[in-house]
Amino acid sequence: MSSTASAQPAEKDAANLTIAVVGATGAVGIELLRSLEARGFGGASLRPLASARSAGQSLAFAGRMVTVEELTEDSFAGVDVALFSAGASISRHYREAVRAAGALMIDNSSAFRMDDDVPLVVPEVNGQVLANHGGVIANPNCVAAIMTVALAPLHRASPIRRLQAATYQSASGAGAAAMEELRLATRAALDGKAFEPKVLPHPYAFNLFSHNAAIEGEDGYNGEELKAMAETRRILSVPDLAIGITCVRVPVLRAHSIAMTVQFDRPMAAAEARALLAAAPGLRLVDDRAANHFPMPSEASGVDEVLVGRIRTDLGDPTGCSLALFVSGDQLLKGAALNAVQILEAIQSRAAG
Ligand code: A2P
Repeated sequence: MSSTASAQPAEKDAANLTIAVVGATGAVGIELLRSLEARGFGGASLRPLASARSAGQSLAFAGRMVTVEELTEDSFAGVDVALFSAGASISRHYREAVRAAGALMIDNSSAFRMDDDVPLVVPEVNGQVLANHGGVIANPNCVAAIMTVALAPLHRASPIRRLQAATYQSASGAGAAAMEELRLATRAALDGKAFEPKVLPHPYAFNLFSHNAAIEGEDGYNGEELKAMAETRRILSVPDLAIGITCVRVPVLRAHSIAMTVQFDRPMAAAEARALLAAAPGLRLVDDRAANHFPMPSEASGVDEVLVGRIRTDLGDPTGCSLALFVSGDQLLKGAALNAVQILEAIQSRAAG
């Protein structure tokens, strides 16, 4: 393993960076390549890494073909920044190799998200915490990232006291194999053929089910719900925020939707919330009551912004302090790859500024 520390990425122009993408052949990995290209990193030297199964495969990047290499302890020599999206155990295993190579790690897994010395970042929401990273930066859980982009502008206007949410989560969150399973299961159902699920635990075509993460602990919450709640508190910097969430997998390919009911410390009119959300970065208002047109995963797929709408006073709260809203955001983009690349951008611009 190389012990030569390379410069921190911030000290180099994007075109002079060497960027490793771990999990480059996965659903998020492919979007990492696209987001890097789309956001000015196409001139960087790219090192796509995956398992031995994919070594030698060619991937398109910025008008050229790049060859996938097998991930090993030696993969990070000369690398400035390593974007990880191959699962928490791979991130834990290779953290030391990345550190020894002097590279910055931006990690899309859950491995370090709650570590005190690792910032958990949605740049539009809490980009200021990037000032104190120690070589590893965590990219949040997709639900937490998509929710907090919409909550932050409201929270700045009036602190959030309580949040209730229900998710409608797409196949992409379970990876490329789950997306393919949804396609195959749907085709089999339409053809009247039997289909045995292999990736997800339940029939997926024309069905929905409680999120496939295991139930953890006595309270009956699953791992996805626990992550989304803990990370939302951390990103918004409200450790005692009251949150309850139910996570559900729906037969949608790649954008998550979330219904939220938010209680503030004062009454907030729907019109005020609408104006705040319309002006906030990373959001697109889709809130046309006359046309009954609100956020939909089909319109959020492939889109950088999180769509937000159905903004209305929650009639379930007699104090008038609660609003209901609905968001759809691309799980592979703001929920994963795009946010990771925005973290890299923010690191670069902090240094340049
Ligand atoms: P591979 O395609 O070679 O299996 P997804 O989340 O869509 O399932 O993608 C997971 C990503 O993580 C893929 O790029 C996959 O590579 C990669 N990956 C899985 N296991 C390993 C491993 N042991 N070493 C390196 N990469 C891995």
